[in-house]
Amino acid sequence: MNTIQTTQLNIPPGVVDLGVGHPSPSLLPRAAMRTAAEHRLSQNDASLLAYGNEQGDGYFRAALAQFLGGHYGTPVGPDDLLITAGASQGLDLVCTLFAQPGDTVWVEEPTYFLALRIFADHGLNIIGLPMDAEGLMVETLEDRLVQLKPSFLYTIPAFHNPSSTTLAASRRKRLVDLSQKYNFFIVADEVYHLLNYTAAPPPPMAGYAEAGTILSLGSFSKILAPGLRLGWIQAQRTLLGRIAQCGLLDSGGGLNPFTSGLVRSVIELGLQQDHLEHLKAAYGARRQALGEALRRHLPPAITFAEPGGGFFFWLKFPDGVDTQALLSEARRQNVGFLPGAKFSSRQGLQNYARLSFSYYETAELEIGVRRLRHVFRDLR
Ligand SMILES: Cc1ncc(COP(=O)(O)O)c(C=O)c1O
Repeated sequence: MNTIQTTQLNIPPGVVDLGVGHPSPSLLPRAAMRTAAEHRLSQNDASLLAYGNEQGDGYFRAALAQFLGGHYGTPVGPDDLLITAGASQGLDLVCTLFAQPGDTVWVEEPTYFLALRIFADHGLNIIGLPMDAEGLMVETLEDRLVQLKPSFLYTIPAFHNPSSTTLAASRRKRLVDLSQKYNFFIVADEVYHLLNYTAAPPPPMAGYAEAGTILSLGSFSKILAPGLRLGWIQAQRTLLGRIAQCGLLDSGGGLNPFTSGLVRSVIELGLQQDHLEHLKAAYGARRQALGEALRRHLPPAITFAEPGGGFFFWLKFPDGVDTQALLSEARRQNVGFLPGAKFSSRQGLQNYARLSFSYYETAELEIGVRRLRHVFRDLR
């Protein structure tokens, strides 16, 4: 019998797919959204059903600005934000408005694999830059910049997908200086910034918006629910003005005014803060469970760093191992992961794999790793 698909995922029954980086259904905030919808729709105000302000509903931006300012430790104003339909849509819009087909963009190696798809859709020429345990190796950039300037550099500064590294504070500052000196944009995908399980990351790249070269992407996908399709760009006001005047927003008005109205209530009623704390506790416990299971069951030849936030463990295998080739055995064992090559701009990283702890409860994570033990048993 055919089943009707409603979500993006289609995991066969019985499989533990540790490649999936989505929140588990049990963590989706149904009750909070119901409360917020009742609150918002009982007001004598139909504006959320009209074409929206191009930059996004001003009341929603005010609530979001206050929420972000509280977390970032630096003030954020409503006019520093433009509302998007999520970070992916924000990134697509940035490609449309700040690059031309054939332009060069710099990414981290590894990088978020689906950002690579978006850049390919725009005909951009993608060059990968080296990273280490402190994130992008910013000190290697100036030599390259002298030769070739990208239209923009795409970075995931906090709790990187897939490597979970966080860009050191000194490198953030240096990167901003370089972007001003050589006149290129930094597109900072900061969707995991608020999801720390130990120490908070350094202040976000959004805090450098006044430099005029930063476009910081944020999203409710990781802190509330991806089905909302709601996010924001924080940037200098002149840049946001440029975006607000684009054809898409001129024709259709601001993005997702209805959802923005509901999420405004989520924030104003304190439900966003409650949910964020709930997520941090749940993901923090899953992170610990997956880390313990990996240490217990995997051969010591597979190494990894403990992620301080975000969703991922990035496993390094011995040289010569191709994790893509191990996937068919993983499928036979009813377990999944994402092979490293997916995250490479140049078919590299074959000896890496990404595991996510966002979708499964701790007991299922343990089952998944026990199955991986069989897949990886011959590695030394
Ligand atoms: C680094 C990064 N950026 C963007 C996204 C997608 O965000 P959104 O749902 O807001 O489009 C993800 C989701 O996995 C991600 O990991």
